This record gives sequence, C-alpha cells and structure tokens, in this order.
Amino acid sequence: MQIKVLMVCLGNICRSPLAEGILQSKVDPDKVLVDSAGTGSWHVGNPPDPRSTAVARKYGLDIGFQRCRQFTVADFDQFDMIYVMDQSNYNNVVQKARDPSDSAKVKLLLSEGNTIETEVPDPYYNSEDGFELVYHLIDQACEAIVTNLTL
Ligand code: 4NP
Repeated sequence: MQIKVLMVCLGNICRSPLAEGILQSKVDPDKVLVDSAGTGSWHVGNPPDPRSTAVARKYGLDIGFQRCRQFTVADFDQFDMIYVMDQSNYNNVVQKARDPSDSAKVKLLLSEGNTIETEVPDPYYNSEDGFELVYHLIDQACEAIVTNLTL
C-alpha cells in the first residue's frame, strides 16, 4: 500500500514545495507519495518561489516543476497524513475538517524530529537566509518521518 503525505503552508510557493521535494527525495515513490498545497489561493498555478527553488537546487533537489494548488476538503480523503508548517496553517486546515478523523490527520511538521522550534517560519518576506533555515528545519523533520515510517 502506498502512503500519501500532504505538506501544507499558506502560499504553497515557499515552505510546502520544499517539504514535498525533500520528503519525496528520501522515500521510495512506489511506497510514499508526497504532494503539497496552500491554504491561500494567491499563487495557484505558479511555480515555487525562486528562492525555494534555489535552496533546493543547492542541496541537489529539483522542485521547479511543481505548481501551486489550494488545499481542499477532498484532501482529507486523498491523504493519510497532512503536515502543516505553522500554527496558523494548522488552524486553517483543521477548520475545514468534517469530523475527528479528518482533524487527526493534521500535525505540525516540526512535531517530528527534535528541534527547539515548533513552527517552520514563513520566509516570504525574509532574505535568502530565511530559506536556508527553512530548508534545514524541514530536512530534519523529514528525516524523522522516514525513520518513523515502517516501510
Ligand atoms: P509559504 O509562504 O506559505 O511558505 O508559501 C508565503 C508565500 C506567499 C504569501 C505568504 C506566505 N503571500 O502572502 O503571498
């Protein structure tokens, strides 16, 4: 059986495209499918922010083919696990849950692993440094996810 994991942030152009690319790179695509979405609709159809594409490329990942889409209620049916980047994303996603089994799928990404930080900060209005930090926070959480998945 294939496990389906959805990464969610606000715009789906900075953090969740990186999370999609990083986790997908660590797993067998036959066993784990990773996608991403945003709670907002501003950037639907657009590629990731060039700063996310650049930091991904620096670490050997291509995320430039991804296209932004908005989170929908149907994602609760499609995905087994839904990881959000911050508390605001959590509230936005859980607000759309139809029942407790929908809500139970939603977790803060940094609840995996053991960083002091609990949220992946929104880097949109930051410098390139913000994207470097975001990359490493997401990467360590994805390592923990892979370690914990019994594939
Ligand atoms: P993301 O960052 O949630 O990591 O994709 C953002 C991207 C765009 C906007 C906000 C956050 N925006 O307001 O357009």
